[in-house]
Amino acid sequence: MVTRDEVRDALKHIHDPAFHKPITDLQFVKDIMVKENQVALTLLLSEDKEELRGQYRQDVKEALGALGIPDVHIRFRMASEHEREEAGKAVASASGAPQDKPQTTHAPKQGQAPLLSAESRVKFIAVASGKGGVGKSTVTVNLAVALARRGKKVGIIDADIYGFSVPDMMGIEERPQLVNERIIPVERFGVQVISMGFFVEDNAPIIWRGPMLGKMLRNFFSEVEWGELDYLLLDLPPGTGDVALDVHQMIPQSKEIIVTTPHATAAFVAARAGAMALHTNHEILGIVENMSYYQTRDGEKDYVFGRGGGAKLAEELHTELLAQIPLRAPENHIAEPDFSPSVYKEDTETGRMYLEVADRVIDKLS
Ligand SMILES: Nc1ncnc2c1ncn2[C@@H]1O[C@H](COP(=O)(O)OP(=O)(O)OP(=O)(O)O)[C@@H](O)[C@H]1O
Ligand SMILES: [Mg+2]
Repeated sequence: MVTRDEVRDALKHIHDPAFHKPITDLQFVKDIMVKENQVALTLLLSEDKEELRGQYRQDVKEALGALGIPDVHIRFRMASEHEREEAGKAVASASGAPQDKPQTTHAPKQGQAPLLSAESRVKFIAVASGKGGVGKSTVTVNLAVALARRGKKVGIIDADIYGFSVPDMMGIEERPQLVNERIIPVERFGVQVISMGFFVEDNAPIIWRGPMLGKMLRNFFSEVEWGELDYLLLDLPPGTGDVALDVHQMIPQSKEIIVTTPHATAAFVAARAGAMALHTNHEILGIVENMSYYQTRDGEKDYVFGRGGGAKLAEELHTELLAQIPLRAPENHIAEPDFSPSVYKEDTETGRMYLEVADRVIDKLS
């Protein structure tokens, strides 16, 4: 099986037409995933041109075909303003000594306010729920991806130390690199991710006790080189236990989104998470009702888990219902080998709903 580095190497000769530089030097090749003889990757575009996509498709398929990979899946997206700036810097610095793997995005910046300091401009959003399995992690991941699709610089802390799931949901298999003794988050779909899952061997159970957990969480803030961020989302463990309380107290400025299913009991339990948020002075941005209904082929909505839980909870917590997400798994495995089991594509109904939530969040926090 080829490695990610071999894939990157094979694409070195492909140049971006605007920057006149290899797309690999510009950090325009992202999310490289290798599964047996299949490769999926994201290419950032400096120009929104169909011919460019066609050319890239041909060049990449040819280059990877030469490595013996017949099956290549390419996602395209426009480079964000920040990514262009970084590409510009890569061009400028390339006149000096050649860099093997430029870490431009994450070069520790002097004078950048630490995440938890009062000067930090990062907006924290904790995603909480009363009980498990309602879709907190799914909402966290998809809201983060949607914010990144809107051009924001986004990070996720998978604060569910015992029950981490974000790496799997996003199809992340690589591990964070260490640069200057700082941990560099793993990037996927333009989102920087840190999870306990990166530091555990072979899915072993985590058996630390309280004080260690708190320390681990703090490390996610202090030892990780986040680079510049607009939003940092925290996927909280379910319920109102110690870790959730720790996070609440650690980030007093955090806002909160509460996830519930439409069932009355779920909403009732979720109200406790809401109460905890309010108790620790976290403003609740809104409620996401998940698994709201199942849409049949003829477009009818079947409210399999009951109805109205999200709206009732929003009323109770004096906040708004941000979305009602239907019961439907992303079809990534069917349409194309995307290896990101829980990320909805931008052009699907659910993908669009998450973009709307992102817009509302951006609006509320600006
Ligand atoms: N709208 C949806 N349609 C179909 N499946 C969904 C939907 N939302 C979530 N799921 C699935 O339901 C399961 C639980 O979701 P998820 O892991 O996001 O919940 P959670 O609240 O984070 O759970 P936990 O409390 O275990 O952390 C997952 O298998 C997920 O893929
Ligand atoms: Mg979860």
